[in-house]
Amino acid sequence: SLCAPVSAIASSATKVIFPDRKYVQVSQNERTKGVKHLVDSTPNLVSLPSLYALPSPNCPKPATNTSIPVIDLSGLDGSDDQRRLLTIKEIGSACEEWGFFQVKNHGVRISLMEEMVKAVEEFFNLPFEEKNKYASNDVMDPVRYGTGLNTPAKHTPLLLLHVARKYLEEVYALALTLAGAISESLGLNKDYIEISLGQGCQIVANNYYPPCPEPDRTLGITPHSDHGGLTILVQNDVDGLQIKHGEDWVAVRHVPGTFVVNLGDYLEHRGVVNKEKTRISIAVGHGPEQTATVAPAAPLIGDKGRAQFTPIMYKDYMKIQQSSVVRGKTPLESILINGDTMSAV
Ligand code: OGA
Ligand code: NI
Repeated sequence: SLCAPVSAIASSATKVIFPDRKYVQVSQNERTKGVKHLVDSTPNLVSLPSLYALPSPNCPKPATNTSIPVIDLSGLDGSDDQRRLLTIKEIGSACEEWGFFQVKNHGVRISLMEEMVKAVEEFFNLPFEEKNKYASNDVMDPVRYGTGLNTPAKHTPLLLLHVARKYLEEVYALALTLAGAISESLGLNKDYIEISLGQGCQIVANNYYPPCPEPDRTLGITPHSDHGGLTILVQNDVDGLQIKHGEDWVAVRHVPGTFVVNLGDYLEHRGVVNKEKTRISIAVGHGPEQTATVAPAAPLIGDKGRAQFTPIMYKDYMKIQQSSVVRGKTPLESILINGDTMSAV
C-alpha cells in the first residue's frame, strides 16, 4: 500500500497547487539503490515511502538550542606556553563535558576540505551500477558502499576519490595533534595515545543525505556511537548532525571551515534530514590497528584502582560495534565488567 500521507501535504488544496507530486512505494529490492536514486528518479516526491518511516518515538523532535564548544587550535602552536596550556584545558573540558567539539585553525587546508566534499558528491552522482560494484555487507571490507538506515555498509571507494589521500594525511596530522592535547589534558605523556594506537587505522564514512519530503518521520542516520578513538567530521554547509547531551538532542550548527570532533564510543549522535537541501558529510574515524588490544590506560588506573572494562582486540570490538543488534545502544556496555550485557560477544 502507499504510505499514509501527512494530512497537511495530502490535502486536496495542496494537490491542486502541486498536481504532479508523487507518492511511491519502495520495495526492499529497490531500497538497495539508495535514497538518492529514489529522489533522483521521482521528481516531486510528496511523502516518505513507508519503508523509511521510523516508529514515532524515534522520530526527531526539535533539538534544544545549546551549542557545543568551538576551540581555536592555533593556541597549540607552541609560541605561547600559557595559551597552549589553556587550549589543552579547553580541549580536556570539552571532552569531559561533551565528548564533542568543533575546531578551527586546525591545520587542514580549507580548499582540501572543500575538494573532498566535492569528490564525495561526484562519487554519489555516479550511476547506481557503478557505485554498486563496491557494495558489501562485510563490516571488515576495507572499501564498501551501501545505503539505508542503520546499514553497516556505508563506506565508499576511496579508489575513486583522487583527493582522499591528501585529505586523509592532513586529517591524520590533526588527529595526532588532538591526541597529544587530550593525552596531556589527562596528565599522560603527550605521545601516550599516539603510541597506544600503534600503526593505527583510519575509517572513512562518506554520507549523502538527499532532501526528504517528510524529515519529521525519519532520520538520515539513526542514533549510534563511532568506534574509533577520534572521529573528525567535515560537512557541506547544511546542518543535520545532532548529539545526545544528557537527555537532550543538541543540534550542531555548522561553522564554516571547522571540523566536528568526537571521542567515539559512548557518545550517541544521529543525523536529521531536511526538505530543501542535500547534506554531505565525511566522517574519518581514527582507531588503533586491528590487532591491538584495547584496554583502559594503565597510568589512569594506578596501583589500587580496578579497570572497568575487559581488554578486547580492536577488530573484535569493531564487529560488535557494527552489528545491527548492538548498534544504537552503546557497544562499550558489552565489555563493561559487572555490566549485565555480553550479548554480542
Ligand atoms: C557517521 C555519522 C553524522 C553526520 O558517519 O558516523 O555519525 O553528520 N555521521 O553525517
Ligand atoms: Ni557517527
